[in-house]
Amino acid sequence: MPFYIVILGPPGVGKGTQAKILSETNKLAHISSGDLFRENIKNQTDLGMLAKSLMDKGELVPDDVTIAMIKDRISCPDCEAGAILDGFPRTPAQADALEKMLAEFKGQVDKVPYITAVESVLIERISGRWTCRANGHVYHEKFSPPKEAGKCDIDGSEIYQRDDDKIETVTRRIKVYLEQTAPLVDYYRRRGKLVEIDGTQPVEKVTELLLSALKK
Ligand code: AP5
Repeated sequence: MPFYIVILGPPGVGKGTQAKILSETNKLAHISSGDLFRENIKNQTDLGMLAKSLMDKGELVPDDVTIAMIKDRISCPDCEAGAILDGFPRTPAQADALEKMLAEFKGQVDKVPYITAVESVLIERISGRWTCRANGHVYHEKFSPPKEAGKCDIDGSEIYQRDDDKIETVTRRIKVYLEQTAPLVDYYRRRGKLVEIDGTQPVEKVTELLLSALKK
């Protein structure tokens, strides 16, 4: 049976950082809706153009195109054993669509780690984040700086600050999260899938909490 994990939490809480670690330790595919949109933006596809216009304002991309993009990705052979979903679902309609999609693969959402932190922590993390141009490796100028300023340790490419990480956009992203995504906390709690994780701890400690929650 495939195993699917949905990592839930506000912008900047560390979903991508933890999803990457879990994907490597558990040999499961990492599906990040934000990364998929950024790849489409880089390749200047129609979806990328639409996504950019909304992402730059901190708004969500419409459910129908987002669901179709995830359905395509989750059908790839590297997801046969399951996947770690990061940034999807983000609305109750997306969560319902995911349930239907996974049923086609005889699977279901198995666990939903919900990573939490207060807004000041989110803003500090997002405003110090640097992302590598080539492969999306993530750094933080204070908590996990690259060895050489401006360069990715892993592939040597330039590191940059995301357009949607400007403070006014971040404030809007947090508001949109509270209005449209936070209802998923109850959605998954009611289904007995939710495990709450204190995201204010250092990266290694959060990973430890996640791994022990996933074992239960
Ligand atoms: P997306 O890319 O998914 O952004 P997000 O959810 O806002 O999350 P972030 O990527 O900002 O943060 P994160 O939680 O992954 O944190 P990270 O690990 O990088 O989405 C962007 C946009 O795309 C959305 O606004 C929307 O427009 C669109 N979109 C995406 N999915 C969609 C969907 N399903 N439906 C509709 N639209 C969608 O960490 C942040 C920083 O903190 C890093 O620098 C990291 O090094 C550092 N850090 C991480 N953990 C710790 C720690 N424990 N201690 C200290 N520093 C830490």
